[in-house]
Amino acid sequence: MRKVGIASIGAYVPPKILTNNDSEKMVDTTDEWITTRTGIKERRIAEDWQASSDLAIQAAQLALANANLEAKELDLIIVCGVTFDYPFPATACILQDKLGATCPGFDLSAGCSGLIYALSVGAQFIANGMYDNILVVGGETLSKIIDWQDRSTCVLFGDAASAVILGPVDTGGFRSFVLGADGGGGKLLELPAGGSRLPASYETISQRLHFIKMNGRDVFKFAVRVMEEASLEAIDKAGLTLKDIDLFIPHQANIRIIESAAERLNVPKDKFFVNLDRYGNTSSASVGLALYEAFLEGKIQKGSKILMVGFGAGLTWGACVLEW
Ligand code: COA
Repeated sequence: MRKVGIASIGAYVPPKILTNNDSEKMVDTTDEWITTRTGIKERRIAEDWQASSDLAIQAAQLALANANLEAKELDLIIVCGVTFDYPFPATACILQDKLGATCPGFDLSAGCSGLIYALSVGAQFIANGMYDNILVVGGETLSKIIDWQDRSTCVLFGDAASAVILGPVDTGGFRSFVLGADGGGGKLLELPAGGSRLPASYETISQRLHFIKMNGRDVFKFAVRVMEEASLEAIDKAGLTLKDIDLFIPHQANIRIIESAAERLNVPKDKFFVNLDRYGNTSSASVGLALYEAFLEGKIQKGSKILMVGFGAGLTWGACVLEW
């Protein structure tokens, strides 16, 4: 089996900013409540004409340029998300066309754990020698499925895309992957209508069932627990200990979830990269966007050992250890 690593990364956020003060004008909330309960100060919002693939292409083109790769050299495209352009065709196929690539592509749905799931899937194709260059993109326009009248969810999410190119490496690379799911918890975080269970109808629209519904408290408890468990499992599988990890890249949902996980793991908080204050929860884009910004800030060097961990709808979770 070949070793697999990250050849390059890219990210894109739409320019429009929605601050907590803006949210105060939309629902019964305050900047103080949002900041103390979540750590979020602002988030990015896509234009009406922008679908997830429009964000994804920007991140993907940057990652291709950073890898010095032409789109035609890609062997596979995997797009993960919860806000695909359409139920079908796959957003990966839309992206393939827009990029001018000729390879196969498919979408992967694993909630906010999407990027870690997609990285693990892509890594298998490279490890076994089937493919060399794989584009993994997390692209989300969550603003399109937020209920802007629901204060308990509308302040949490934002729009973004992040892209990773996977390739074979001689040294370092991914040392472990851990994936998990508990479908019994699916109701805690869902988009009830629009699928085959509840197709769009006058009733589903009038009952606002095409928007995110979430039991925040239970998702919070789940998140803190799996962040700790999945991180420890991935580190152990990599043959490392907590002290070996130079940087933790957690899913950016809530600063209190990250701080609780840091406390439970007994890891200094400054080892956890945080940018949720500026973007909120961008679901499948979040871990890649954090990885990209950590890289730009010089927090990642050759040989750095990085733990990425995510959790989300499904319920799902995932963690991996990467040696840069
Ligand atoms: N502004 C002001 N008050 C708000 C509010 C808002 N935006 N949203 C909720 N509230 C109110 C609630 O109505 C509740 O009022 P009540 O006590 O009168 O009923 C009160 O604040 C406390 O609500 P609670 O849900 O207990 O708050 P919390 O401390 O659990 O924080 C979340 C709420 C959503 C921030 C938190 O539960 C959370 O982050 N959960 C995880 C969500 C997540 O990460 N989801 C994505 C996973 S990928």
